[in-house]
Amino acid sequence: MAEKILITGATGNIGKETIKNLLSNENDEIEVIAAVRDIDKAKNIFDFNRLRFTKFDFKNSRLIKEALQNKDKILLIRPPAISKVKKYILPLIKEAKRKDIKHIVFLSLQGVENNPLVPHYKIEKLIKNEKIPYTFLRPSFFMQNLSTTHKKEIKEDDEIYIPAGQGQTNFIDIRDIAEVASLVLTEENHKNKAYELTGKESLSYYKVANILSEELNRKIEYKNPSIFNFFTKKKKEGLSLTKILVMIGLYTAARLGKANKTTSEIQNLLGKEPITFTEFTKDYKENWL
Ligand SMILES: NC(=O)c1ccc[n+]([C@@H]2O[C@H](COP(=O)([O-])OP(=O)(O)OC[C@H]3O[C@@H](n4cnc5c(N)ncnc54)[C@H](OP(=O)(O)O)[C@@H]3O)[C@@H](O)[C@H]2O)c1
Repeated sequence: MAEKILITGATGNIGKETIKNLLSNENDEIEVIAAVRDIDKAKNIFDFNRLRFTKFDFKNSRLIKEALQNKDKILLIRPPAISKVKKYILPLIKEAKRKDIKHIVFLSLQGVENNPLVPHYKIEKLIKNEKIPYTFLRPSFFMQNLSTTHKKEIKEDDEIYIPAGQGQTNFIDIRDIAEVASLVLTEENHKNKAYELTGKESLSYYKVANILSEELNRKIEYKNPSIFNFFTKKKKEGLSLTKILVMIGLYTAARLGKANKTTSEIQNLLGKEPITFTEFTKDYKENWL
């Protein structure tokens, strides 16, 4: 019987790419179910006859129970807006235990093992406590943050407005993460492991701006604002206080050189070089035109 894989965060960066990966080759040993808040909206995003949908919300225990019914594996993606782990993520983990789910693949975070303050740390611990077979994917910073969160400032103002100083950041393409997610969801030998996934190179935002300028054929400037100026600008743009503080935390870590670690896990797992920032820029070029 086909294994049933439930994908949370299915309409987001990693969920969407993982679904594409899982369904792009005719593997009838798996059935993929997208767990989504709005089925009609999600149906417009995907073009796979074989993809099934189930209504799901981390904040609704009835939907959690229904979505996990008769499933074998789960890709767990914590939505960035959910930070109350006990309230909104633990019910799914408990239900997974009750339903004897065979494997949870959790999208975690690079460096999580040394950072008890982030929700991912608590989630990893809860999954381990329940003794559910797991794989933790701990990626570095997504390249696609530049084509989503920072898209507007690059496209409209020709600038990168990030307070990361001269610090270098390791960037990874979400397509590499999704390929790993598909692999570990369909192979048996990744249970109870954690993979620190990174791109091959760490770059300062000056270098990022240079690559973008070259590919886009116009000058993109790295502004390197002070934290005070960054805070003021983001507040004026209407971002929530929590989101601004999370961004300041991330970019301060980068400024202090704590976001530049590189590993060879992509090569080890996928047998290929990670996608480079230049390749990402070429592939996503139209986002900033
Ligand atoms: N960005 C980075 O550089 C980076 C690096 C390492 C780790 N991470 C981690 O990656 C995770 C985010 O993954 P992502 O970027 O793939 O996601 P994303 O693009 O931010 O999408 C979030 C997803 O969560 C869904 N969602 C939101 N609220 C929900 C709710 N109450 N119930 C059910 N689904 C809900 C959204 O669905 P709708 O369509 O319904 O809104 C969407 O599919 C975060 O935990 C983040 O910390 C990010």
